[in-house]
Amino acid sequence: MAKTVLVTGGCGFIGTNFIRLILESRQDWRVVNLDRLTYAGNLENLKDVADHPRYRFIRGDICDRDLVTGLFADHRIDTVVHFAAESHVDRSITGPDEFIRTNISGTFTLLDVARQQWLENGAGASGQCRFLHVSTDEVYGSLGDSGYFSESTRYDPRSPYSASKASSDHLARAYFHTYGLPVLITNCSNNYGPYQFPEKLIPLVLNNALNGRELPLYGDGGNVRDWLYVRDHCEAVVRVLERGRVGESYNIGGHNEKKNLAIVELLCDILDRKVGPLPSGRPRRSLITFVKDRPGHDRRYAIDAAKIARELGWTPKMTFGQGLEQTVDWYLRNRDWTESVMDGSYREYYRKMYADRNIKG
Ligand code: NAD
Ligand code: DAU
Repeated sequence: MAKTVLVTGGCGFIGTNFIRLILESRQDWRVVNLDRLTYAGNLENLKDVADHPRYRFIRGDICDRDLVTGLFADHRIDTVVHFAAESHVDRSITGPDEFIRTNISGTFTLLDVARQQWLENGAGASGQCRFLHVSTDEVYGSLGDSGYFSESTRYDPRSPYSASKASSDHLARAYFHTYGLPVLITNCSNNYGPYQFPEKLIPLVLNNALNGRELPLYGDGGNVRDWLYVRDHCEAVVRVLERGRVGESYNIGGHNEKKNLAIVELLCDILDRKVGPLPSGRPRRSLITFVKDRPGHDRRYAIDAAKIARELGWTPKMTFGQGLEQTVDWYLRNRDWTESVMDGSYREYYRKMYADRNIKG
């Protein structure tokens, strides 16, 4: 089925991987990528497809109602895949304002323009329109040693980031119930893979470990995340778009729980194997440093992904071992990419956050 998809935040980590997947695998879909190009968005990520006949890039803000309305009308948007967000928990602690603006007000603007265009102006009369809101498992809060997040787990967000995402999920659901907007929601666990900004655990550790810098582990390093290869997440999003039931939420996860310390040790070992130990001859594990904990640090996330498996037939394809090897290889081949995205404001942010928390950067 042909579609014209408005992808928001397409120059970020997951958006970049999603657009690549669509252009490769869906020959009758057109993509309009709306991205404000914040510190986390990088136009270079998609430079090889910039002139693709089924792709258009628009630099702009999802909070700009006139711009979004114009895009819906000019491009006859029938599908929205909404990735754009402020996405880093640590930044939401030091500066929550942008999270409220983009994640809540921005999502509201997109939903309301979709309502106006598709339902009031009748552009959605074909019944083919879909608004897929991409969310996170963090809305469910923190688990103890056992249990899983299912779609019916009560929302209990504990950081400004997760509270802003929870709020946007509630708005999306409200637009389905109140106006009948064809909304779908996905709540995914931690992604890893190419193009992830080097503020997140895996690319941060790779970059620091390659440069002989400390590897800061928050608290005791025993927090658990459920890791999923980004391409698997993108395929799940496509599956939900094509086969999901409107008004429903789908949890997406990798059945792949790991303690942070275990991830960091694994990355150190892979790097030692691939590029040799540090110039001092010491293994990279010697760079691991336990530092002051993230305030309100959620202890454990683990997704029950039975619904999407049962109803839509999606399960992850990539094993963690293969995915991590491929990710390390990508970062080794693309050290220039990491350097280029770490601009002055990024370095300034880290200098300040690390100073506040006594971390040697
Ligand atoms: P990211 O931070 O890498 O990218 C966000 C993108 O949104 C950037 O390109 C940025 O320029 C753009 N953006 C930010 N504010 C904008 C605005 N006001 N208008 C237009 N564009 C704007 O994020 P990501 O890791 O790719 O995450 C994408 C989405 O997936 C987010 O909604 C996030 O909550 C969700 N998610 C992420 C993960 C993960 O592990 N990374 C897991 C589950 C869910
Ligand atoms: O669960 C999905 C979420 O995963 C997404 O919604 C978020 O957008 C995404 O950023 C991610 O959130 P996390 O907070 O889990 O990711 P992060 O990479 O920041 O941290 C992963 C774990 O590693 C977490 O327990 C904190 C810890 N950590 C992180 C960094 C950056 C460290 O110990 N040291 C670090 O330097």
